[in-house]
Amino acid sequence: MSDEPMSNKVIRTPDAVDLDALAARFRSLYDAEPDGLWAAPGRVNIIGEHTDYNGGFVLPIALAQHTVAAVRRREDTLVRVASASMDDGAVATVELTDVTEDGDYGWAAYVVGVGWAAARRDLPVTGLDIALDSNVPVGAGLSSSAALSCVTARAWSDLLGWQLDEETVADLGRDAENEIAGAPTGLMDQLASVCGQEAHAMQIDTRAVAITQLPFDLPAAGLSLLVIDSRTEHSHTGGEYAERRQSSHEAALRLGVHELRDVPLESLATTLDKLPPLLRRRARHVVTDSARVEQAARLLLAGDDLRRIGPLLNDSHASMRDDYEITVPSVDTLQEAAVAAGAHGARMTGGGFGGCVIALVDHDDAATVADACVAATARGGFPAPAVFEAVASGGAARIR
Ligand code: GLA
Repeated sequence: MSDEPMSNKVIRTPDAVDLDALAARFRSLYDAEPDGLWAAPGRVNIIGEHTDYNGGFVLPIALAQHTVAAVRRREDTLVRVASASMDDGAVATVELTDVTEDGDYGWAAYVVGVGWAAARRDLPVTGLDIALDSNVPVGAGLSSSAALSCVTARAWSDLLGWQLDEETVADLGRDAENEIAGAPTGLMDQLASVCGQEAHAMQIDTRAVAITQLPFDLPAAGLSLLVIDSRTEHSHTGGEYAERRQSSHEAALRLGVHELRDVPLESLATTLDKLPPLLRRRARHVVTDSARVEQAARLLLAGDDLRRIGPLLNDSHASMRDDYEITVPSVDTLQEAAVAAGAHGARMTGGGFGGCVIALVDHDDAATVADACVAATARGGFPAPAVFEAVASGGAARIR
């Protein structure tokens, strides 16, 4: 394994958030010191896509890219929040007691929704002043929204002494996204953002909300995980994500099971015969991708050669492309280019309809694979991808 930094011109780690500058911005916005600084990461999902709202398995890692919040507790119930990257840094002001599911709070929904969710659980809630910055790419399927809702939940919980377990902190973030921001996501992204551990991937049983931390030390194995952003924007508040969720639900109903999680893999072919073609494909993706998570998790647990998860990544991509139909041409192009250039496996990660491809590569091949992806998108007339290396990192925490 080589210790050479991987930075050719294509692979660029997003610039770190400048914590001193963020604290200074807080002071200039609110004329006061923050009580502290908190950070919550984005995530990539290694495998198991659109399984989390079907009670199935997922296998995400938390990224080293974070949303950082400088926060101060207020005595009233106002929330004031400003982000370096949103609305030119303007402060959004929301009265918490007025927040409802029907309100329109723009991106601040991911913040005030957490306070709303906490109040609904009868937790004592006061207002906050918040200044945000982030180096999680937005709209790339890397859960910048979960980083935002979870940094808010972590900070609020710590400042008000809510004493919640990590799953509940994640749940506050999910409630904010589902009920106030109107994005009908599962719980994977928030759990990954709150519960991530360095050099580990989380196998999450989303039905039991049970997390198994599995060793995922890529550098030690001479490997790198490239995140290749297609720069094709995606969003979960659009109709496609909700439509897939609805199809899954309908397939489960027709099969007479509670969730697609309950369809056994062994009898999948005969079970699927009972469904019309479209639902058959949707259900097949969910059941097989959840099974692929279990296979990958077994390899990780056994300390097997991590390269062996490569074929599972490729199969997962094919399943998302052909059965769940959530990939787009730019993303398929990147996946194929990465594999052709020597990646052990590659797949789209996240909700789909754009976003990022992850590619598992030997460290020494990273630049070659990244270059091949750039060349392939140029040939196909797609935007040039942004590429960085994913490093499995820790979850949401106070950092100052
Ligand atoms: C988005 C959602 C998650 C999950 C993935 C697809 O990231 O937020 O809950 O459903 O899509 O696996």
